[in-house]
Amino acid sequence: MKIKINTLILIGFMSASASGAAGQPALKDVFSQDFLCGAALNAAQFSGTNSPEVELIEKHFNTITSENVLKWESVHPQPGKYDFADGDRYVAFGRQHEMFIVGHTLIWHNQTPAWVFKDKNGNPLTREALLERMRDHIFTVVGRYKGKVKGWDVVNEAVAEDGTLRQSPWMRIIGEEYILKAYQFAHEADPGAQLYYNDFSLENPLKREGALELVKKLQAQGVKLAGIGLQGHYRLDWPELPDIDATIEAFGKLGPKIMITELDVNVLPTPAPWNESEASLNFAANPKWNPYTNGLPQNVEERLASRYAELFKTFKKEHQLISRVTFWGVGDRSSWLNNWPIEGRTNYPLLFDRNCQPKAAFQAVIDVAKTKGG
Ligand code: XIL
Repeated sequence: MKIKINTLILIGFMSASASGAAGQPALKDVFSQDFLCGAALNAAQFSGTNSPEVELIEKHFNTITSENVLKWESVHPQPGKYDFADGDRYVAFGRQHEMFIVGHTLIWHNQTPAWVFKDKNGNPLTREALLERMRDHIFTVVGRYKGKVKGWDVVNEAVAEDGTLRQSPWMRIIGEEYILKAYQFAHEADPGAQLYYNDFSLENPLKREGALELVKKLQAQGVKLAGIGLQGHYRLDWPELPDIDATIEAFGKLGPKIMITELDVNVLPTPAPWNESEASLNFAANPKWNPYTNGLPQNVEERLASRYAELFKTFKKEHQLISRVTFWGVGDRSSWLNNWPIEGRTNYPLLFDRNCQPKAAFQAVIDVAKTKGG
């Protein structure tokens, strides 16, 4: 009896200590006939310091996205000064593990320093000067990783919630041609790279229509878009499945592959507009917005698992249109949703918990993969 109990404890310990959870199926294997499976990585992961998460990454994912290190402010912090230290490590990690490497992102309204839009006297840049600056940035960054970064989120979040083009500094100074130019520069810099358009809340009909128009226009102008990224910053009850499905089909019809690029499911109440993932939103902390500091109640854990199951059922059903599903993070502890749109919260948006153990949601996703006919 004693031996049996010890053996059980040992087995329990082994599976609890190996964050890769030996014996667990790997996401990339169970969906190998459907789409690539990936995660966005931060520096602690691709530099190897967060070893439990590295174990999970090696086991489950065959594609990676740079969470922050290839954004303008990281890679090009000052005029004429590029910093590729982290970018190089990120790309080396992906190559070492033979993963499909995605670069995020070239042209965006966030995490782009204010100097980008100003001349050396602090006055707004002219259209021509900003285009030249954009060209230099894209050629330098894409050029450095030519043939290694296989796909780029060239333009991120160019469409506003009402379907019009977002009034970003890019738009205000250059006009809507900034989008076309970004794709042309990226293509010239690496003709072999896949080029993507990436955005959130495209499940909302107004915004979806605006983005569909944008994609059609770019295609008519000769841009070969390889992918449309639906960020997938979802909630337990938003968006509804028919809207997700309709969005996948509407963009899929235009030819590019659909990529779920930043998947997570926010379980916390929020003072932010419920369907917006505008990264610059920031609200004051208040305990009422942070209810699960001591763990996720069982009933919410179950809702999260069934939400993930229904999402993956939809992705699997649409596998011919979808080429990749990437989570925005690995374990709950390092998710951006602990700090957005309120800093210092305890969120539970991913498939692996704060100790890198698989959650009920992980098992639910595996079960979907194993269901025949999905
Ligand atoms: C987020 C990162 O995860 C955070 O670490 C950072 O502080 C802000 O940006 N949409 C995007 C991503 O396209 O780049 C954002 O990433 C999340 C929303």
